[in-house]
Amino acid sequence: MNYVLSLTFIFLISCTNINILREPSSVQTHVKQLVDWETKANATAIGRSNDVVELKHFEIPLSFLEKDFASDLDPKVKDSLVFNKNGTPFFRWVISPEDTKYHKEVSEFLASKGMDTTTYSYLKGYYSASRSLIVYNENNRAAFSLKTSTDNTAGNWTDKKQTWDDSQQIRQISDWVKGATEKMDIKTLVIQDEPMAVGIKSLDMGIVIRSLGELPQDHKYYIPGFSALHEHVGAEIAALNGSNDPAKFWEENYVKPLANALGELSAITGSFHTSPHSQNFLIELDANKKPTGKLVVRDFGDSYINKKILANTKYAHLVDMWEENYVFHSKLPTRFGVLHGTKNPSWVSEQIYLKWSEIFYDVFEKRFSEISGIPVSELAQTEKTLNRKGRKFSYYIKRYETKSESWKNYFRYANCLNGNTKTLSGKNCPENFKKFHSTAQSCNSVVRDFQ
Ligand SMILES: Nc1ncnc2c1ncn2[C@@H]1O[C@H](COP(=O)(O)OP(=O)(O)OP(=O)(O)O)[C@@H](O)[C@H]1O
Ligand SMILES: [Mg+2]
Repeated sequence: MNYVLSLTFIFLISCTNINILREPSSVQTHVKQLVDWETKANATAIGRSNDVVELKHFEIPLSFLEKDFASDLDPKVKDSLVFNKNGTPFFRWVISPEDTKYHKEVSEFLASKGMDTTTYSYLKGYYSASRSLIVYNENNRAAFSLKTSTDNTAGNWTDKKQTWDDSQQIRQISDWVKGATEKMDIKTLVIQDEPMAVGIKSLDMGIVIRSLGELPQDHKYYIPGFSALHEHVGAEIAALNGSNDPAKFWEENYVKPLANALGELSAITGSFHTSPHSQNFLIELDANKKPTGKLVVRDFGDSYINKKILANTKYAHLVDMWEENYVFHSKLPTRFGVLHGTKNPSWVSEQIYLKWSEIFYDVFEKRFSEISGIPVSELAQTEKTLNRKGRKFSYYIKRYETKSESWKNYFRYANCLNGNTKTLSGKNCPENFKKFHSTAQSCNSVVRDFQ
């Protein structure tokens, strides 16, 4: 019987593309904790493996690929993917272990060009709750997130091609959001930037790398929003911090920080997530798993962008690159929906969710107002609606009218909200648009970087 079982097991393993390995002993505990939360503490992406897998890749000359690398790309991340073969730089084109389709297109394409179609191994990886992989390089201990095409992933949308077109947009908005927010003194928002993208233009296929922020340093934890709202894990972390009321605990430590973070993000950059659900947010915890008050936002490719803000900054070109449906000209679309796309834990009722939406908008409007100068009383006039589509826990929506004088003034001085002291046309920024400028930077560096 045992013999039959083990034969079946060997057969199953050899039938899949997935090679289960021994856990790398050097992988950072906080990175592994993220993997465990992503795969095991989620009411939506159920049954994901948290085992380490060997990642396969093609080796493609870098000169053959489209590429966009940020100037501050971490050398350990770069060296994990770009290496020299006989003196020529090559890129490791990582294949999703779940994919049965897109890597074949790449292989056929390489064959048609007479190039090497061998699949090599170098990196280890883990699944997440989405198509992103958490990649680990045992040789230099780099850990990062990587998005590559797959026709077979968790959740509601299983076939997800990562296009080169989208990869380019992601690179631009990542540079914009990072460049603008790091020059401002903000208390809540942390971003996971996406500093590297490569692509094969004729296949319209790309690979995007996302930084894991401070996670690899093992000082902080990042718990995905969906794990904070997970029936057991959410209650356990609340209890660990002395609370037997998880709904109240996450109201303080998720809903309010989220509102502050999105207030900061949208006021400074003119962007708002199109899918502000709990897969795109993470809550920062200290080494004892106590919330620090900071909130991490990821996946900026899925954003609405405000034409009037961007037109007054040096990122105006983003508007031309963006999908038309996601560029807003008049009303600012915003949403609250931490349980959108997932199941509510027993400790969040519809009434609590409604209360959370009210708290979210109170805090959001206050923070947005502090930075933009638009009075709270004006913002609060906007009506909130529930986008149900048959779901109990969906998005609450507010679409702010942007025609008033205070909005016009805010648009006029948009360039002052990313650390600059002058508008694009050279006008001095008024004091109230400079009050959040980071004190850590010198005025000279601001002028140099943004003009
Ligand atoms: N609790 C959750 N709520 C909403 N979406 C979830 C949740 N858990 C997993 N998901 C999955 O997350 C994905 C969300 O879509 P999105 O396009 O933002 O992700 P992605 O682009 O695949 O990856 P990433 O966010 O890592 O860049 C979907 O595949 C969805 O099923
Ligand atoms: Mg996402």
